[in-house]
Amino acid sequence: MKLLLLFSLLGVLSIANSSANLICYYDSTSFLRPGLAKLDTRSLELALQFCSHLVYGYVGLKPGTHEVFSLNVDLDMFHFRDITQLRAKYPQLKVLLSVGGDRDVDEQHPNKYLELLEANRTEQQNFIDSSMLLLRKNGFDGLDLAFQFPKNKPRKVHGTIGTYWKKFKKLFTGDFVVDPLAAQHKDQFSELARNIKSAYQSANLLLTLTVLPNVNSTWYFDVPKLHPLMDFINLAAFDFYTPMRNPEEADYTAPIMFLDEQQRLPHLNIDFQLNYWLQHRCPPQKINLGIATYGRAWKLSKDSGLSGAPVVSCTMGVGDGGLQINSTEGLLSWPEICSKLPQNQTAIYRGANAPLRKVTDLTQKYGNYALRPADEQGEHGLWVSYDDPDFAGIKAVYAKNKGLGGVALFDLSYDDFRGLCTGQKFPIVRSVKYFLG
Ligand SMILES: *[C@@H]1O[C@H](CO)[C@@H](O)[C@H](O)[C@H]1NC(C)=O
Ligand SMILES: *[C@@H]1O[C@H](CO)[C@@H](O)[C@H](O)[C@H]1NC(C)=O
Ligand SMILES: *[C@@H]1O[C@H](CO)[C@@H](O)[C@H](O)[C@H]1NC(C)=O
Ligand SMILES: *[C@@H]1O[C@H](CO)[C@@H](O)[C@H](O)[C@H]1NC(C)=O
Repeated sequence: MKLLLLFSLLGVLSIANSSANLICYYDSTSFLRPGLAKLDTRSLELALQFCSHLVYGYVGLKPGTHEVFSLNVDLDMFHFRDITQLRAKYPQLKVLLSVGGDRDVDEQHPNKYLELLEANRTEQQNFIDSSMLLLRKNGFDGLDLAFQFPKNKPRKVHGTIGTYWKKFKKLFTGDFVVDPLAAQHKDQFSELARNIKSAYQSANLLLTLTVLPNVNSTWYFDVPKLHPLMDFINLAAFDFYTPMRNPEEADYTAPIMFLDEQQRLPHLNIDFQLNYWLQHRCPPQKINLGIATYGRAWKLSKDSGLSGAPVVSCTMGVGDGGLQINSTEGLLSWPEICSKLPQNQTAIYRGANAPLRKVTDLTQKYGNYALRPADEQGEHGLWVSYDDPDFAGIKAVYAKNKGLGGVALFDLSYDDFRGLCTGQKFPIVRSVKYFLG
């Protein structure tokens, strides 16, 4: 009945998305944040009715032994179970454990994920055994591989001479090689994934892949070999531009389409990343489009101009963070961004508290941004690129039109879980869920 109604009302041809995935990442360190940024388990629960999967982030990889281990034993020893037990209340929910992310930063062993790939079969078994032990002991449904592989080099800012030199150099050195053994690592990753999969299959555990921002799929992921091994693949298709990677120029952090202007690189957008997987014959239902619930802020200088139209030049790295997340990477949560947008009560403020001017992308292709030009002293300039609930909804529609499995949100703790912005809690989760149908 319902189905027929849908067909007749919307002329829908396919019902493939009637059970779309909404993969909700949960950074467990948000449980330990001070003040309003703390996401406790009760607030988290409100989102779970909308999520098909909760991905608990993050555990680490031990260098040398290649074991999966807790990055915060004091928290995880209770919290793993507190979270997996929520399934009793939300029976549709699967809870996965994610290894890596951008949390497992180990300056002494920056290549430990590559070392795991290079290890022999006996050593890799440590990874598999330790992961299965951790999953089973704590009631997880599976493991998410969010391995930290070397990242693509950011676009360099150059004068004309620099550009000429870059082109010249490229001829001789190849295209900014960050991993000379990438081809070998790609094969080794498929092999490792195959071994994990066969161990997990008999234990009835899920295995998923997260492609982290700026990790180049061409180098590390053999799509035809990998997709049959994964229950699904989440493309974290955002942070193409960040104030850490691109301190001297600001651009859309997560555009859907390529905007072929100002020498943008053609692969730094969602459409390219997605098509790469699709063109290598990954079934679209296997892919979930990753959307960030946070934005990135750059500091504007007087030379950045007043319009704010990206690419914005002469920026000065990371802009002032929000009051709650206090990030050194220019990361602003959605409620922090919302509080900087014009509202009546802030309209009279000046200086660092003056509201930003919001620029809505009417083409629905690139993203929204907001800015406050620097003042005469060169102070208080800020430029923020972000997906608000509306634009996250636009991306959900894009994912649906592409026939994808669904959307992956990174992550619940940066959505407005207190309803500080409009009173509605988890507005981004709700918007995505609504548009995914
Ligand atoms: C695997 O590597 C370890 C450490 O390098 C070594 O001790 C062990 O003998 C190797 N095992 C096999 C089967 O090659
Ligand atoms: C990987 O990087 C190369 C060189 O920078 C680029 O040409 C290619 O499109 C990238 N692949 C993906 C999937 O982004
Ligand atoms: C923000 O972090 C810095 C260190 O990175 C610290 O000195 C400062 O007190 C923090 N501010 C708040 C409001 O937590
Ligand atoms: C904001 O101000 C406008 C006009 O100054 C007024 O019409 C509107 O009701 C105000 N909104 C709120 C939420 O106070």
